[in-house]
Formats: sequence, C-alpha cells, structure tokens
Amino acid sequence: MKLAVIGYPIHHSKSPFMHNTWLQECGLKGSYEAFEVSPDQLREQVVDFEKENFTGYNVTIPHKENIIQYLDEIDASAAELGAVNTVVIRNGKSYGYNTDGHGFLKSLLTKRTAQEVKSSDILIVGAGGAAKGIAGSLHSFGAEKISIANRTVTKADQLIESHGLTGDSMDLAAAQEQIGRFDIIINTTSQGMYPHIHQEALDASEMKAGSLAADIIYNPLKTQYLKKAEAAGADILNGVGMFVFQGALAFEKWTDREPDTASMINKITQDMNQE
Ligand code: ATR
Repeated sequence: MKLAVIGYPIHHSKSPFMHNTWLQECGLKGSYEAFEVSPDQLREQVVDFEKENFTGYNVTIPHKENIIQYLDEIDASAAELGAVNTVVIRNGKSYGYNTDGHGFLKSLLTKRTAQEVKSSDILIVGAGGAAKGIAGSLHSFGAEKISIANRTVTKADQLIESHGLTGDSMDLAAAQEQIGRFDIIINTTSQGMYPHIHQEALDASEMKAGSLAADIIYNPLKTQYLKKAEAAGADILNGVGMFVFQGALAFEKWTDREPDTASMINKITQDMNQE
C-alpha cells in the first residue's frame, strides 16, 4: 500500500515515522513517504496519486484549503471547515476528510471523561482553522458550554454564531480577567511555538486548580502557557496527542486497522525530548 504526506516545506514532519511504524506493527506491506509539493504542482500531484494507485495521503500546510478544488468529494466536516487533512483514493477517485478536530477530541478524552467534557465550561483561544475544527468536534460531541476568545473578536463572534455555541465570545483581555472560571482552556494559536517560546496568548498563572490547560502545540512539549498552568495546579495536555490521533484516524480510513496510539504518543514525546 502506498501512502504519503504532501506539504511545502515538509522535511520536519513526523508523519512518515508514525505511519511507517504503524504499518510495520500491523504487519501491512507498504510505505508512507513525504513529498514536497509546491502550490503550482498541487493539481498534477493529486492526479499522479490517483494514477499511481496510492491508497491515500495526508495534506498539510499550505495545501489544506487549496486541494479541495481538485478532489472528487469531501465529507461534511471538511466542507464545514473548508480544509482537508486526509485524502482516501477509492477506484481512482479522491475523497477528502478532516481528522484534526476529532483528533483533538480523542486526545482530550485521555485526560477527561466524556461526561466531564460535556459539562465543562470550555474556552477555546484563537479562531482560525484549528479552532474551528476543535469547536465543531466538541460541539457535535455534546460539549454544552464553549466560549471563544480571540485577538480579533469579530472572528470569535462568527465562530460562536456559525456553530450555534452557547458560550461567550470575547477578546483576550476579557478572557484574561475571567481565566479562573474555566474548567478547560485550549490554546489553538501559534503563540509559544518554537522558536517563539516566550510568547503566550493568555497568562495561565491564575487558572483554576484542577482545571485542564490544553495546547495544540507540541514543539516545545511544554509551552510557557502550559508551564504556568501547571504551576497554578492545572492538569496539562500538549499537542502530541492531537497529532497522533489525527494520524490514527487517517490510518484507520486507509487500512481499516486501529493503530497503537498510546505507545506512539510515548515514542514521539521521547523523540522530541531528545531533539
Ligand atoms: P490555524 O489555521 O493554524 O488555526 P490561523 O487560521 O492563522 O491558523 O489562526 C491563527 C490564530 O492565532 C488566530 O486566532 C489568530 O488571531 P487573529 O484572528 O486575531 O489573527 C491567533 N494569533 C496569531 N498571532 C497572534 C498573536 N500574536 N496574539 C494573539 N493571537 C494570535
């Protein structure tokens, strides 16, 4: 079976390591390779994958939105987001999906029960593509109270409205004032990502003890936001789980097999610690 990831640039991706390990563990023949594809090569690459009988591939920055025009069909979650991260090829046709939001939800469920997620007062920080996917997945899962905080508050308003969320829309200053109120806070902004490790969208030092701080960033494994949250007595969840679960959901679509996510989270964490 032939699998791939396309992006531009792509050399730092941990997806080949993850999927090749899973292929081996499941005793499946095949390989997963990274392809550096520039925007002007995208259309041709989609056709090549179909012609060369690939089973499917992942799509990453900057192609998640642009690829949609070249696919035969996309599912409801990808359509709602306007972004695809996984393509499955069946009978020479390309079908697009988005597993990012669901991947985050699965990661969250390693730290909180379904009932806890549903009844928590949740704050999503950021209102870009990642926030949209996560808000959509949490909402369809049955999370009752989701608020959005964003630097540009009109984008938070739009997200609350488009998903019919019952929480509040606010700017970052308002979120900072109310920070002690939330049971779960999820950073979806790039603030704190390497090399900008001293940045943070919110100062988590006043988070409620026993609450949960989640970040979608995994480089570094512990962002400044997560460090402060931990010092305040909150539980923390970094972005490794989301990365692994979005990959596992893609792998299941291609192979019909359920890969070992827990050991992969450990492997990637160890790998990051050594870098
Ligand atoms: P993605 O698709 O990865 O979510 P994005 O769509 O570019 O990326 O969204 C980035 C998010 O990070 C946005 O919510 C953005 O806030 P704005 O909507 O106000 O642009 C947020 N963000 C980026 N830089 C930021 C900064 N310096 N401070 C606070 N928020 C920031």
